[in-house]
Amino acid sequence: MQTEELSVYLASRRALIEQALENAIPGDWRVNGRLKEAAMYSLAAGGKRLRPIFVLAAAEAVRGDEQAVRMAMPFAIAVEMVHTYSLIHDDLPAMDDDDYRRGIPTNHKVFGEATAILAGDGLLTHAFYVATEALSLGVPAERTLAVVRDLARMAGFPGMVGGQADDMEGEQGITAIGQLEHIHLHKTSDLIAFSLRAGGHAAGASDRQLDALGRFGTNVGLAFQIQDDILDITGDQDKLGKPVGSDERQGKVTYPYLIGLDESRRRVAELTEQAIQAVRSAGLADGGRLEQIANRLISRDN
Ligand code: IPE
Ligand code: IPE
Ligand code: MG
Ligand code: MG
Ligand code: MG
Repeated sequence: MQTEELSVYLASRRALIEQALENAIPGDWRVNGRLKEAAMYSLAAGGKRLRPIFVLAAAEAVRGDEQAVRMAMPFAIAVEMVHTYSLIHDDLPAMDDDDYRRGIPTNHKVFGEATAILAGDGLLTHAFYVATEALSLGVPAERTLAVVRDLARMAGFPGMVGGQADDMEGEQGITAIGQLEHIHLHKTSDLIAFSLRAGGHAAGASDRQLDALGRFGTNVGLAFQIQDDILDITGDQDKLGKPVGSDERQGKVTYPYLIGLDESRRRVAELTEQAIQAVRSAGLADGGRLEQIANRLISRDN
């Protein structure tokens, strides 16, 4: 019953997010047609929308009302744009060289590498434009600025981009779990932690709440990437919407490679428990939804 209610909640949030994504590039801007088509191709392809859902759920957890959710929407759209750009670039031949994503051929397979790179560039840049629209919805300027700075940092050099660079470099030579954890924390957790903090900012969270939301995101994010590594071995391409076996093909050192599948699964459960402890310590109006989502992710198959 509760699981059905959660599924309905996730589907309705997804619909709200997808509608906003469709309208995210102002219709009266003159944009190169092929560039816009390529960007919208990947943006509209679906995906779980986990990061934007976390933005909205964090706002709801802090304030407990729908008004906070509406105010958080620009940050939700911004993070999904950054995430989608990261996937387009991650799939390029120079990186993971994958042909299939979100259930359809990868961006460069359809539009060519040059347009795929530019579509990613455009999505990354536009994310910052969209984020500033929170101002017109009543998010105070200093909060909006804090989110923009968080996004630049957590998606940027010390965050996701840096983590992707470590991932490319570390393909073969990693022997210690600490090194691998460091890569996962940055290439994946940082953007998820950003999502939680951004939702918190939109709802006027205290520093203590922002901290706890960030810790929740970091732990869930690490669990999420370990699960992604597991599913790259045990998953089903039709459900995942992307190829399995990509990591082995690219010679990546992953959690299952280093510590085995069982130990990896144990770590996912442990990190989820730590995430839930963080959210319980945050003094939120209602952290229940965040807990439910974290628990749902343990058994995900896509
Ligand atoms: C894939 O992210 C890349 C990782 C960081 C593991 P998702 O699994 O969230 O991909 P979509 O958005 O659902 O397609
Ligand atoms: C990607 O990690 C993390 C990103 C920042 C895009 P992976 O390379 O494992 O993601 P998938 O498996 O291709 O989605
Ligand atoms: Mg990769
Ligand atoms: Mg990849
Ligand atoms: Mg993967």
